[in-house]
Amino acid sequence: MNPFSLAGKHIVISGASSGIGRQCAISCAAMGAKLSLLGRNLERLNQTLNSLEGAGHRLYQIDLSIDQDVKTAVEKIVADNGRIHGLLNVAGVSTTLPLKSVSEKKMDEFFRANVFSAYSLAREVCRMGHFSQNGGSIVFFSSVMGSFGETGKSLYAMTKGALQSGARSLACELAPKQIRVNTISPGAIITPINEHLAHISDSVKRKELEDMHLLGLGKTEDVANACIYLLSDASRWVTGINLFVDGGYSVK
Ligand SMILES: NC(=O)c1ccc[n+]([C@@H]2O[C@H](COP(=O)([O-])OP(=O)(O)OC[C@H]3O[C@@H](n4cnc5c(N)ncnc54)[C@H](OP(=O)(O)O)[C@@H]3O)[C@@H](O)[C@H]2O)c1
Repeated sequence: MNPFSLAGKHIVISGASSGIGRQCAISCAAMGAKLSLLGRNLERLNQTLNSLEGAGHRLYQIDLSIDQDVKTAVEKIVADNGRIHGLLNVAGVSTTLPLKSVSEKKMDEFFRANVFSAYSLAREVCRMGHFSQNGGSIVFFSSVMGSFGETGKSLYAMTKGALQSGARSLACELAPKQIRVNTISPGAIITPINEHLAHISDSVKRKELEDMHLLGLGKTEDVANACIYLLSDASRWVTGINLFVDGGYSVK
């Protein structure tokens, strides 16, 4: 008996074509899950698929910011693979922008990519006949920026804070169906989302960023392990929480 096993579970992972989402796919497959992988870039989705242990995984090319496409994709996912036991909403975009540069177009773009797409995906996964009748787990990806402030992060922070507060109410709404809803808030992990940004590419700024995390910068595996916990029966009595996986960023 391994309480962290994902054997027999069908897990949907958005953002599986890159960074943290790709590592979550690799780690969940290693724990026995059957996966439906979502992303826009087909070549990189295929690279993820080819890295997975086990059989029966499928990929779905989708732009999650188009609501109707989300509905169609989830119907196909359930028809292809059966009911869903878990959803990892990893897909997201990041930015560092001062207030004066935040246009209406940017606000729309970031809320669509980080909030609306994850919320639509959760809604479709929870439609009648889509989620396992025994319940399961939905995980939203917030960030330490959803709880703490940094200059230039207001737009990104608003989207990530929205996920935390929405998830708490969804946890109440979905508990009667035994569907648990939690958020994960990672600290800084170098992936394609941030590797080009000044605080990573500039060595002085990168040292400052490292020093904000008591244990230094994290690895994608650190976050994937937390996802395994929240998707597995090991967390069967855990809902409505925001789990910091941040090397101590949030204790200071
Ligand atoms: N890295 C960090 O330091 C850090 C810290 C805190 C929180 N996070 C959060 O963790 C999550 C993953 O970040 P990451 O570092 O792994 O970033 P990443 O490597 O840039 O990956 C982002 C993923 O999101 C997908 N995506 C973005 N917009 C999409 C859309 N409209 N439709 C479908 N897929 C879309 C991308 O798919 P395609 O490439 O196929 O378009 C890609 O797979 C994000 O939500 C991010 O905010 C990251």
